[in-house]
Order: sequence, then C-alpha cells, then structure tokens
Amino acid sequence: MKTYSITTLNEFIIKNQADFPYAKGELSRLLSHVGIAAKIVNKKVKKAGLVDILGESGFVNIQGEEQKKMDVFADEVFISRLQASGEVCGIATEENQEIITFDDNLSKDAKYILLMDPLDGSSNIDVNVSIGTIFCIFRRVSKNGNKAKPEDFVQVGSQMVAAGYVLYGSSTMMVYTTGRGVNGFTLDPTIGEFCLSHPNMKTPEYGTIYSINEGNYAKFPDGVKNYIKYCQEVDPESNRPYSSRYIGSLVADFHRNLLKGGIFLYPPSPGAPTGKLRLTYECNPIAFIAEQAGGKASDGENRIMDLKPESPHQRVPYYVGSRAMVDKLEEMIREVGVESRKSEVGD
Ligand code: AHG
Ligand code: MN
Ligand code: MN
Repeated sequence: MKTYSITTLNEFIIKNQADFPYAKGELSRLLSHVGIAAKIVNKKVKKAGLVDILGESGFVNIQGEEQKKMDVFADEVFISRLQASGEVCGIATEENQEIITFDDNLSKDAKYILLMDPLDGSSNIDVNVSIGTIFCIFRRVSKNGNKAKPEDFVQVGSQMVAAGYVLYGSSTMMVYTTGRGVNGFTLDPTIGEFCLSHPNMKTPEYGTIYSINEGNYAKFPDGVKNYIKYCQEVDPESNRPYSSRYIGSLVADFHRNLLKGGIFLYPPSPGAPTGKLRLTYECNPIAFIAEQAGGKASDGENRIMDLKPESPHQRVPYYVGSRAMVDKLEEMIREVGVESRKSEVGD
C-alpha cells in the first residue's frame, strides 16, 4: 500500500532536537514560531495584488484596520509572534532603528535574541516578483532574567546558533540551518504546513551564474570590474560567458544560485563605501546557510562570519555563493590591491 509520507517543519525540528543535547527545546519552539509568523506573512503576500479589489468590495478594513505597507506589516507580525513565543528576550529588525527588548516575565528569562529583515526585496512586491524574510538567532551574552542589551545584537556571525530565510516565490519555502547542514521546506497550501522538500542542501562548487546590479558598473572597484569581465569572457572549458541573472531580492537571487551554482555580488561604491546590505540581518544569516551548504561568503577579503559588527544596522560589501567563484573573485580583488601598492611605491 502506498503511504502518504511527509515530514512537516515541526516534525523535523523536533526530530533534530536530539542534535543539541544541552537544549531543552527552546530553540526548537522558537524556530516553529518563526514558521508560524512566516505563514501569516505569506497569506498577506499572496493577496498583495488583490488589495485594491478587496478594498473596493469592502473586504479589507472591515475592522477599521488601515492598510499598511507590506514591510511594516511583516515587521509587526514577526515581532508580535516572537514576543508571544516567550523564547526571545529581544529582536533587532531592519524596520526599527533601536533594538526591541521584551521585558515581560516570560521573555526576560529567554536565552535567545533574533535579528531579522522582515521583508527583503520589498520594492518587488508591487510588481509580483519574489521577496523574502531573513533571520538569525544568537544566544544572549547579557545576563538572563534582565532586559536584552545592545551587546547581544553585535555578536560575531560565527556565534549564530541558527539562521534561515523564507522565500515568497512561485511557491513559499523556508530554508534554515542550525549548523548541521541546510534543509528546505515548501509550504503545502492545501494543508498549511511547511513540508521537507530539500533535505541536506548542497551548493555546487562551481556555477555559471553571476548576479549583480550591473547598472552600477562604472562605480565598482577595479577588482570587481575585472571579475565581471572574466565572467563575460569566452572560455568553453569553464562554460563562460556565464549567465547574468539579477532579481533584486537577495533571498531569491541567493536561493537560485544555491540550487544552481553561482555568485551574488553587492560591491561598495564611492557613494556607499560599505555597500548596501546589512551585516547582521542580511549577510550573516545567508552566509551561515551558504557555508553549511558548502559555499562561501566574503566581504572581498574576509570571511563574513568573522566580522565584528559595530551596530546592528552596519553595511558591508557582500559576495556569496559557490566556493570556487568567491575564491576567484577574492583573488582578483587581491591582485588589484597588489598592483596598486606596487604603483604607489613606484615599482
Ligand atoms: P530591502 O527590501 O530589505 O531593503 O532589501 C533590498 C536589498 C536586497 O534584497 C537586494 O539584493 C538589494 O537590495 C537590491 O539593491 P539594488 O536595487 O541596489 O540592486
Ligand atoms: Mn533586505
Ligand atoms: Mn527589508
């Protein structure tokens, strides 16, 4: 007899709790709550195109609820669901300049903090293009039983205990790691559950996709310009020219490259010397997933997960994807550095 065999996100989380002998289930419960919040956001995202129609027919705002921008809505959903979970003592999000601390009795004793970009790629929502949520979890370094402190939110990325993203695409997926590989779950809308669809994800060592906003080419550092030229050169052996693919949603661009092999680049420019993307809630979580899948994440010189953030909103140049491609880019950035040092000393 054929059996209907699926593994839901919650089942998977509980099964794998045994990986953490010291854990009492808090991290598992926290991850489940992230999944629930993601489902609430997903419901709204999937209705985004209907907002005007529903508005005219009186189905929205029936309780006098005002229409909110999607990223503010996502922010509020995650904050309220995570506070209700009692498993985090504080959150930092892209939408809030200050960290948010929870000082109700339940949350004050929680040992985790969470950083997140509640809605990534939000400019794509009006045009029906994929968007995402990015998050990571740290153990607090401040004392339990008190409010979370700023130092909890600027820990070096290698201290992350879990990280993940939700991709609201042609289907909705949650991908996460706790440092023991990467697993992907697809939301089955008929039963309202994330189901394991991509167990133990690995990214190819080499890929043939490069993803960058090439409109900014003139402003890129020379090492990055050289790398782009290299991607465009003809070389049948390495399958070049590579394909250029850019959605403008980090989660979606990264997810495609994770599955197919590729590199995502967000370089610095004279007007934005540290690039655009945020170290703590965009770059670090994606870096953790990339590394756990066999890939690599760098600021051009250093491993992303070794950088010490100065603030939760700090930006950093970002290069992530297939290991061999990030290695090659770093090599080309180094070469330019060596050349410019030589010309400075008149060699
Ligand atoms: P957000 O919507 O959270 O502000 O993030 C958008 C980010 C990221 O998702 C994407 O990779 C990048 O901005 C695109 O930037 P450009 O439009 O400059 O290419
Ligand atoms: Mn973002
Ligand atoms: Mn955002």
